[in-house]
Amino acid sequence: MAEKENNPLINFVANLTGNQYLKVEEDLGQGFVRLNISEAERRQAKHDIQSMEDIVLEMLRNSRDAGASRIFIASTKEDNLIRKVTITDDGDGIPTELHERVFEPRVTSKLENLITDRYGIHGRGMALFSIKQVSDEIDLVFSAPGRGTVFRVQTSTGLLSERKDQSTYPTIKYRNGEPIIIKGPHNIIRTVLEFNLDHQHLEIYLGSPTEVLATVRMMCLDEKARGTSAKSEDYKIWRCLKPIKAAGILSDIAERRLGLRVSIRNAQRIMSERIVTLKPLLETLTAKQEEQEEPERKRIDLMKTEPLAKRISQADLEHIAHKVSDELKIIGDKYFMEISPDPEVCADRDCIRVTIKLQSKGNY
Ligand SMILES: Nc1ncnc2c1ncn2[C@@H]1O[C@H](COP(=O)(O)OP(=O)(O)O)[C@@H](O)[C@H]1O
Ligand SMILES: [Mg+2]
Repeated sequence: MAEKENNPLINFVANLTGNQYLKVEEDLGQGFVRLNISEAERRQAKHDIQSMEDIVLEMLRNSRDAGASRIFIASTKEDNLIRKVTITDDGDGIPTELHERVFEPRVTSKLENLITDRYGIHGRGMALFSIKQVSDEIDLVFSAPGRGTVFRVQTSTGLLSERKDQSTYPTIKYRNGEPIIIKGPHNIIRTVLEFNLDHQHLEIYLGSPTEVLATVRMMCLDEKARGTSAKSEDYKIWRCLKPIKAAGILSDIAERRLGLRVSIRNAQRIMSERIVTLKPLLETLTAKQEEQEEPERKRIDLMKTEPLAKRISQADLEHIAHKVSDELKIIGDKYFMEISPDPEVCADRDCIRVTIKLQSKGNY
């Protein structure tokens, strides 16, 4: 800044054009800058942080802009007073030298790629600063380039408001095949879901710290089964859970590395797989909708999973059934069995059932 103030040419341009053309006050390195005040003001967000839901939304926008594909949100309320939220993503991460700077006003890495979404302009470097002002605590628990980021925020519900009803799922209606939210309190679930509907490529998980830990742990143990590339997964934060064999260590690492406070007892339940892991929010919603909706609507599936077996034609099903029955006839002789010539076949959601009646041959 000092250098700029002393630079007669920059001063001349600034006087001539107004200093909004000099967007950068300080270059912090590694793609981060501090914007000058008029640029930050130009990028004013439509509204400031007024609730816990606003905080969650700003954190989600940050994870999205960091190129995350999976985001985990763990939320708890203690003594009906303290809300604690931990947000973990597998995005680009923040270099160590900037871990404290990102909480300062007007510090951003989005100088050239300002993003406008339905919530307004994003990239004025003010959200983390504002969250720090209104919350009891905000920590960057962990972040490293290529490995993702974990933020933990704590607020007093008496000081920063949040919706009272935090358990009702919103109701969805479909218009031209597109899901839209029509009802439900503007709580954390709705905030996250609305965001997820706008960004359906994101896998977002929402639950308690114990549920999130169980899910993340299972995900890292189950990489092969999920078919994800072990190479990229190897760098992600949750890799630290992979070698853990004792509940005490799981509880300790979860708190220190993932910002998730889970008792040793719950860590034991996680290790013995007694905690049901979370499904991505959009899938959870599909299941909830199916419970609520009339049969006509039930067919609309948010994830568009068509029953596999229903794709096979009746003629092909019968062909398969007769093939099985023919094979069985050959074996049947060996066991003195008659095979009924009319096998029955039916296609269920994801399986085919062939029923073949057996009869004893002669007086065996
Ligand atoms: N989840 C995240 N992953 C990676 N970088 C992040 C994340 N959250 C915040 N940041 C970094 O911190 C900077 C400041 O964030 P913020 O205060 O929300 O301002 P803005 O998003 O407008 O730049 C961002 O520009 C980004 O570089
Ligand atoms: Mg932001």
